[in-house]
Amino acid sequence: MAKQKQQPRLKKSMLRHSTLFFALLFIFSLLLALTLFGVGFIFVPTDSGEATSITSIVRKTVVRENEGGGDEEDGRERWTEVLSWEPRAFVYHNFLTKAECEHLIDISKPHMQKSFVVDPKTGLPRASSARTSYGWFLRKGQDAFIRNIEKRIADLTFIPVENGESIQILRYETGQEYKFHHDYFSDKFSVQRGGQRVATVLIYLSDVEEGGETVFPRAKGDFSSVSRRNNSSVCAGTGLAVKPRMGDALLFWSMKPDGTPDPNSLHGGCPVINGTKWSATKWLRMSEYI
Ligand SMILES: *[C@@H]1O[C@H](CO)[C@@H](O)[C@H](O)[C@H]1NC(C)=O
Ligand SMILES: *[C@@H]1O[C@H](CO)[C@@H](O)[C@H](O)[C@H]1NC(C)=O
Ligand SMILES: *[C@@H]1O[C@H](CO)[C@@H](O)[C@H](O)[C@H]1NC(C)=O
Repeated sequence: MAKQKQQPRLKKSMLRHSTLFFALLFIFSLLLALTLFGVGFIFVPTDSGEATSITSIVRKTVVRENEGGGDEEDGRERWTEVLSWEPRAFVYHNFLTKAECEHLIDISKPHMQKSFVVDPKTGLPRASSARTSYGWFLRKGQDAFIRNIEKRIADLTFIPVENGESIQILRYETGQEYKFHHDYFSDKFSVQRGGQRVATVLIYLSDVEEGGETVFPRAKGDFSSVSRRNNSSVCAGTGLAVKPRMGDALLFWSMKPDGTPDPNSLHGGCPVINGTKWSATKWLRMSEYI
């Protein structure tokens, strides 16, 4: 009898112990999760709520004048600026020196030809009123000078040199533009070699008196207070606009981190109102582009 009575009491106390154990385990796990969340190990994907707080970083970005202390060459400070997280867009100021910009223009000038767009049906280049610039493709790694720039673009993007297309030099005269488009392909042919375009590095080789901004109409955030919009064209007012400045490199991603196209990477080149806009574009693929 005594034994029979003891059994359930034992079970009860074991039950009490295990309940306590699991409760402690739960509290411990919760604390661990909160700690990891605090230091950013656990990434909770959320929609617009989080994104709004991220884009607020952008609004706080101030354009600094030369303060010294930076990595300088030809006296111009190099520094990076976050423009937007949706799409992911950044500017590396003074990525190329004035002399490098001028050299790129000089070697391309004699070869400039009407720019084409990729036909989404055939994957072949064709002329289009959506793109009225003139351009020229430099050969990949054609000399030590180009190899050096391609290496620096690889360092900037963490995407190997092998994944890059040839640098394209573009010239936009007054009135010339590139209407809104995505850099990723929507045809089956263009992705057969190298896969999709993951990111684009667009380097401005000249200042433009007026117009010629690169604009992202679907960028999330309120850009009305960003000084970048000061003294910019009406076209630039349609979204996040980047004013061309000689040597600045704009890096933006056409793919989200999960490898799917980012529709918010829609962008265009505003018509040049006064001046000539020269740029160098490097498209970076998902895999080797040989
Ligand atoms: C635009 O720039 C001028 C001169 O740099 C400055 O005085 C003015 O306050 C700026 N306006 C805005 C809205 O930022
Ligand atoms: C815009 O900039 C150009 C050249 O930098 C200058 O000549 C022009 O006066 C500016 N316009 C305004 C409205 O600030
Ligand atoms: C273009 O810009 C230059 C330099 O700022 C200026 O002298 C010229 O008057 C401008 N031309 C027009 C048509 O606005």
